[in-house]
Amino acid sequence: MSALTNPLNWILAGVLSYISYSYLKGSAPPPPAPRRKFPTLVFKEYTPKELVEFDGRTEDTRILMGIQGKVFDVTRGRNFYGPGGPYGNFAGRDASRGLAKNSFDKSMLVPLEGPIDKLEDLDDSERESLSDWAMHFEAKYQLVGKLIENTA
Ligand code: HEM
Repeated sequence: MSALTNPLNWILAGVLSYISYSYLKGSAPPPPAPRRKFPTLVFKEYTPKELVEFDGRTEDTRILMGIQGKVFDVTRGRNFYGPGGPYGNFAGRDASRGLAKNSFDKSMLVPLEGPIDKLEDLDDSERESLSDWAMHFEAKYQLVGKLIENTA
């Protein structure tokens, strides 16, 4: 009896295929969780009061952040800026002062109702730090708007 006609070989081949299939199926990484796709944002002006609406409070909200008068879409950095993230205070806010002073403390945020932070008191190294961060954000995130003063 040749190897091909021996039914024992067919049974063995079946068992081996089944074991290999089960092993590969079990060790394959789980598919990544689908990420919410947001439509492209049209560049526009945001007042501080409008910007705060984009603080990523739910999975369905985008996260925007202001730096040196520019507004960036940092939604894909949700791990950093989303609720509970280390830099969550910056979400929906002008983060300039915090980035200049390398602090994510709440005291770095100016009141929403007030004028935009002029940052006039920053020293040279703080200005440099802010510019470095601005370059980081320009390189990584999409520029989607400009920060303007609140109306009334
Ligand atoms: C306790 C000290 C700190 C540690 C261990 C830390 C750690 C980190 C790590 C691991 C990253 C990710 C880098 C990457 O993957 O590109 C990061 C990014 C960042 N950190 Fe920190 N950090 C610290 C302090 C700070 C402070 C004080 C600030 C305040 C301004 C800050 C602001 C940021 C920002 C804005 C990002 C960039 C996130 C992005 O690319 O969207 N970090 N930090």
